Amino acid sequence: MTAAREPLLSCKGVSKFFGALAAVNNLSFDVYPGDVLGIGGPNGAGKTTLFEVISGLNQATSGSVIFQGRDISMLPPETVCHAGIARTFQLNASFESLSVRDNVRVAAYFGRENRAYPGLKVGPDVEEQTTAALEAVGLAGKDHLIAGELPVLDRKLLMLAGAIATKPRLLLMDEPVGGLSPREIDHMMDAVRRIAQGGVTIVLIEHVMRFLVQLSTRVLIMHHGESIYEGPPQGLAKDRTVIDVYLGEGASERLGKLMEAGQS
Ligand SMILES: Nc1ncnc2c1ncn2[C@@H]1O[C@H](COP(=O)(O)OP(=O)(O)OP(=O)(O)O)[C@@H](O)[C@H]1O
Ligand SMILES: [Mg+2]
Repeated sequence: MTAAREPLLSCKGVSKFFGALAAVNNLSFDVYPGDVLGIGGPNGAGKTTLFEVISGLNQATSGSVIFQGRDISMLPPETVCHAGIARTFQLNASFESLSVRDNVRVAAYFGRENRAYPGLKVGPDVEEQTTAALEAVGLAGKDHLIAGELPVLDRKLLMLAGAIATKPRLLLMDEPVGGLSPREIDHMMDAVRRIAQGGVTIVLIEHVMRFLVQLSTRVLIMHHGESIYEGPPQGLAKDRTVIDVYLGEGASERLGKLMEAGQS
C-alpha cells in the first residue's frame, strides 16, 4: 500500500471579514507538491485577500492555514517566508533606487532566516542564490540596472526573482501578467514553467485566462469569497456558474476553442 500524499498547503474553513463583508468566506482547499493551482474570479472575489491571509500579512478571522503539517495562521509574514512560502504582488514592489542585483540580494539574504543588518555581508551562498534567481527569470544581463527605471515586464520579473531567491517550497503569484502584451505574457509563462519544473509548487491568481489555463494543473474560481469551481482547467469553459458569474458567453467560447486547440 502506498502512503497517502500529504498536501503541502491546506486552507481549512478560512474566512476573512472586513466589518460585515466576508472577503473570504469559509474557503477550504488543498495544494499538493508539484501542483500549479490557478485562482480566478471577478474583481473583489477575495483572491488577493486569500494571499494576504496565507502569507501572514493579514490574519484570518476564522479557519486555519496549514503548511507542511504546521499551523501558520498566526505567524507574521517574515516567519511564513522563512517557513518556505514566497509571494509576488499585484502591484510592483521593489526597492526603487537599488539595482536589480541588490534587490534580489536582499531577498536571498533575508528570505531564509533572521539575519543581522550591520554590514550586510553577503556570503557566496547568497551570491549563488541571487545569480540563479536572476537567470531563472531571464534578468541576468540586466543586474546592474536600477529597479525603478525598468519597464513593466522586467519589474514583474524582478519581483519574481526576489521571491524565488528565498528558495520557497510554495510560490504565490498575484496577477503576474496584468498589463503585459501577448509576447510578454509568453515570456512570463516560460519563466513560471521553469520555476515549476525546478520543483516549486505554485498558486497563481490571474485574470488572463490563456495564462491561467495553460499553466495550471488545477483551477479554483472564487466569487464573493467562496469557491464556485475547483477542478481541471478543461472543465471551466463548460461550467454554467463560471460562465454566468465570471467568463461570460464570448470568453467561454474563446476559452473552449483554446482548450480544444491545446488538446489536438
Ligand atoms: N483592507 C481592506 N479593508 C476593507 N475591505 C477590503 C480590504 N481589502 C480588501 N477589501 C475588500 O475585500 C473584497 C475582496 O478584495 P480583494 O482585493 O481580495 O479582491 P480580488 O479578488 O483580489 O480582486 P481583483 O481581481 O480586483 O484584484 C473587496 O470587496 C475589497 O474591497
Ligand atoms: Mg486582487
